[in-house]
Amino acid sequence: MSGAGFSGPGFGSSASEMPPMYRPRNSPAPSTFPRHDPSATLPFERSTVEEPIVTATDATALDAPMGPTGRPMPHFPEPAPVKSHGNARVISMCNQKGGVGKTTSTINLGASLAELGRKVLLVDFDPQGSLSVGLGLNPHEMDSTIYNLLMDRETTLGDVIVGSGIEGMDLLPSNIDLSAAEVQLVHEVAREQTLQRVLAPALEHYDIILIDCQPSLGLLTVNALTASHSVIVPLECEYFALRGVALLKTTIDKVRERLNPKLEIDGVLGTMFDGRTLHSREVMERLVSAWGDTVFHTVIRRTVKFSDATVAGEPITSYATSSTGASAYRQLAKEVLTRWPAE
Ligand SMILES: Nc1ncnc2c1ncn2[C@@H]1O[C@H](COP(=O)(O)OP(=O)(O)OP(=O)(O)O)[C@@H](O)[C@H]1O
Ligand SMILES: [Mg+2]
Repeated sequence: MSGAGFSGPGFGSSASEMPPMYRPRNSPAPSTFPRHDPSATLPFERSTVEEPIVTATDATALDAPMGPTGRPMPHFPEPAPVKSHGNARVISMCNQKGGVGKTTSTINLGASLAELGRKVLLVDFDPQGSLSVGLGLNPHEMDSTIYNLLMDRETTLGDVIVGSGIEGMDLLPSNIDLSAAEVQLVHEVAREQTLQRVLAPALEHYDIILIDCQPSLGLLTVNALTASHSVIVPLECEYFALRGVALLKTTIDKVRERLNPKLEIDGVLGTMFDGRTLHSREVMERLVSAWGDTVFHTVIRRTVKFSDATVAGEPITSYATSSTGASAYRQLAKEVLTRWPAE
């Protein structure tokens, strides 16, 4: 790709420079592709977010309760269990703006999908390594990372994938080493397809692969988009967050046109929403008027529980299992499953 629209790494500080916030792990147990017991699926906990949930039929009624996006809130059905695993759908969690909830959404959507019996692989594709740290890994103690997978043909997925501590969910970790890949890949043949090539053997083992992108539209993000079936755009409900979305849309369109014709946008996810402020509600209104039904009905509210869960090195669905944050991501998991083609 000529790269006009895709230049500039632009990522922030490295996780490896942060004080260690990870918890000691007993077993990141390299589950090359570990078994998943569907019978271990946790029952879905009905959402405790403030909005009443109504059925799709009810939602058309005049007195239908409004959801936080200003549209009637549909009922998302309990997804059927999967009969067999494989043929994974690959989704990039992407927004070039920093700190909008990409990593938080990757961890918690992944954990919620795993609760629903899906076999999930999370890909940390950010040299900051926040996803890996957020799941309790120490960035200094990784034997091999996605960097080795990308740059060294001898390294296999099985050498790099570790367990996430959550049943049914694995992790391809990353650390600051990945920042070198962005530079080195420039000289590779088919540089935009490198991630797609290395992930290919994983597709038959997982139902869903979520890629946590770095906050940039550089070559790593283009690799993620090229490897994906679709994109989820987490977007902080804050005015400045709206400004970069047009550029992101252009990038997605370019990748679709030149590299990956099947690429779709699954949805835009409003994060850090505070329904008490006019500002949050106005941003949501503008988002819906610009993006329409692409905006997920599910909205993630602002709560400190997410930072606490990061410090604990686990998803909010296990750290604070009955919190509104956990319920919101469980609802999002059901909503995304209604948007994807039948498995
Ligand atoms: N709904 C929320 N309410 C409150 N805090 C949140 C919420 N979602 C995420 N956070 C916090 O905001 C910070 C940024 O979130 P996160 O790391 O998920 O964003 P990101 O888009 O991945 O950032 P980056 O662009 O740096 O990769 C983190 O400290 C996280 O704990
Ligand atoms: Mg992140």
